[in-house]
Amino acid sequence: MRWKILELLRVQSPEHLSGEEMAHHFRVSRTAIWKNVQSLQSAGYRIEGSTRLGYRLLESPDLLYPAEIVPEPATEMIAASPKLIHHHQKVGSTNNILKQLAGEGAPEGTVVIAEEQTTGRGRLGRAWHTPRSKGIWISILFRPPLAPQEAPFFTLLAACAVARAIKTNLPALDPGIKWPNDLLLHGRKFCGILTEMKAEADLLHYIVTGIGINVNCKEEDFPEELQTNATSLYLANKKKNVSRQKLARDLLREIDLLYQNFLAAGSMPILTAWREHNITLGRTVEIKTLQGGYQGKALDIDADGALLVEDEHGTIRRFLAGEIALRP
Ligand code: BTN
Repeated sequence: MRWKILELLRVQSPEHLSGEEMAHHFRVSRTAIWKNVQSLQSAGYRIEGSTRLGYRLLESPDLLYPAEIVPEPATEMIAASPKLIHHHQKVGSTNNILKQLAGEGAPEGTVVIAEEQTTGRGRLGRAWHTPRSKGIWISILFRPPLAPQEAPFFTLLAACAVARAIKTNLPALDPGIKWPNDLLLHGRKFCGILTEMKAEADLLHYIVTGIGINVNCKEEDFPEELQTNATSLYLANKKKNVSRQKLARDLLREIDLLYQNFLAAGSMPILTAWREHNITLGRTVEIKTLQGGYQGKALDIDADGALLVEDEHGTIRRFLAGEIALRP
């Protein structure tokens, strides 16, 4: 009920709304209304109460509560209702929490989002730094009818969704996708994606795609070793703060749209969107894989999102995973 009360207060703002009127609306006592207002206040909402006039919403915190980030009108599947969004103040890793929920049968479209992670994970066992309430640290659950080897495709889908949500919110910025999972602004990374799955032989149980976006991080929020390679939307946006709530909402909508598109029409529309935002194709790349290093020209991505690289002898190799450095 507290989120419904918040909605009423928001509509009424900057005017007051009487406790009695709300009590009548919800058919509860005035004390029940007061208790819910108190719980909104402890969640960070600045609500003024006056015995004569009632309650008035003065300020909302930029925290990623389900009621604040659920897309309106509702999406088809991803975060289609506030109940599918699990918001935490502090967790180890949102990917880990969501994998546990997935194992317990959570439905497709379930989302875990946190203000802070204590053991945020990146690819190749690296740590991912997630300062409190400065970014969007989020994981999304998919249960697509696919073979396990097609899971890396979800990294491309998520990267396109991030690029699109940023274009909507900050049209002056031009994020570029570096295959497979990095998003860069002015050559510096501001977003990473970690796709994990549970599968056996040729049966895919689920995919968890974790996305980390540095939104309002300042230089000093990054550990020293990252200061020259990392950036944030705030830093790229002339040091102006960006609304995490609006960006998270738009991101969830873009993920849903791309996923629905994929279920209906296959991978082609997403590959086309990915090519539009990529900064990898046509470049000379150095690719590091578990099997060793390789250098060549990045020609294209194939239907699974694998990178096709041609070496100086004209041999083309296909990489489903790996890490690349872009050469000038
Ligand atoms: C990378 O670039 O190496 C991937 C970084 C992925 C970070 C996100 S933050 C939300 C989710 N939870 C995690 O522990 N990792 C991902």
